[in-house]
Amino acid sequence: MINPFHYEGFALEEQFYGRNVELVKIQKLVDNSNNLLLYSKRRMGKSSLIKELMHRNGDQCYTIYCDIFDIASKEEFASILLKSLAKAHHGDLKTIISNLKKYFKRITFGISVDPNTAEISYTPRLEGLSFEEMMEEFFEGLFLLSKEKRVILAIDEFQQITLLDTKIDALLRKYMQEPYNVSYIFAGSKRHSITSLFTYSAPLYEMATHMELGGLDSSSILAYASKYLSINEATVEYLIALCDHETKLMQHIFHILYNTHKDATITPVMIDNALEEILGDKSSSYTLLYDTFSLTQKKAFKIITSDIENIYSLDTLKTYNIQKASLASALKQLYMKEIIDKEKDRWFVPDRTLELWGKRMLNR
Ligand SMILES: Nc1ncnc2c1ncn2[C@@H]1O[C@H](COP(=O)(O)OP(=O)(O)OP(=O)(O)O)[C@@H](O)[C@H]1O
Ligand SMILES: [Mg+2]
Repeated sequence: MINPFHYEGFALEEQFYGRNVELVKIQKLVDNSNNLLLYSKRRMGKSSLIKELMHRNGDQCYTIYCDIFDIASKEEFASILLKSLAKAHHGDLKTIISNLKKYFKRITFGISVDPNTAEISYTPRLEGLSFEEMMEEFFEGLFLLSKEKRVILAIDEFQQITLLDTKIDALLRKYMQEPYNVSYIFAGSKRHSITSLFTYSAPLYEMATHMELGGLDSSSILAYASKYLSINEATVEYLIALCDHETKLMQHIFHILYNTHKDATITPVMIDNALEEILGDKSSSYTLLYDTFSLTQKKAFKIITSDIENIYSLDTLKTYNIQKASLASALKQLYMKEIIDKEKDRWFVPDRTLELWGKRMLNR
């Protein structure tokens, strides 16, 4: 049997569990063609949740998923939207080609088929078109599609648009106000940048219902894990706390436990050993990363990953031999590098595995 604990890519169908409350809530939005802003810390399960929602709505809706993590220009943004829209058309090659002609007036597509997976990919030919024209073409195609069936359009890693110096959000607002059966889902993990796009006076203000995704609930985790492992509630709680609710790390540990202790009763020691294995595998890349830090950044990182309550106390500053102002500025630099994040005046490392590596390797 293949390992039932998935920790890379999207967890789909039988490997996906929990999120019942969230799915019901999002389904209501979709049924009413309303929009969603979904955000969380990294690796909580946003993309998996969106994919699962799309899977469940695959028959009654057109589902379009775009990941814009890599965009470097507004034209690339438009190109990803167009490609994803082209992908929404299913059928044999002949049907697809005739559909593309019907839905795209000014754009033609290069089509290639992967001989191994039979997956079709589309390359829009965009020469001579301005960004605004590409977007117009995209939305015209999208709206036409929505007359046949309801559409779910998800843009993952949406905060990336803040890196481009164009008003993509204002343009999106204009199209989103058109009365078509489209639900827009925006997802992302950089809390500040993504929520800033939806705050008062921003173009997308009040254009979507906000949902912050927490960890999976412990009863779903226990129910799923118990199907494949002998594990009790207290041990599951131990694992959840160790991972600080991060879904990916938790799944990775379950994955290892399933490979090594399928037939034993799981104990906290086994969980610790699985974590050690993960930290060991990551250690060289984390060391490389850590070596890129300046001396004060290293000190700041150590302080953040230790369990110090008041990081600016005289005691701490003395122990780490650092001035308050240098610590504050190093923290800011680590924040700019996206190594650390801040919530309610408390700094933390959003990547739980990196945080645990810091705790275990640097602070012993
Ligand atoms: N509901 C779930 N059931 C089972 N596994 C899940 C679930 N949600 C997430 N996972 C697992 O956790 C991993 C991280 O989830 P996912 O990539 O969906 O999170 P994310 O919030 O989109 O992360 P990122 O911030 O990196 O984009 C996935 O690879 C998947 O294997
Ligand atoms: Mg994701």
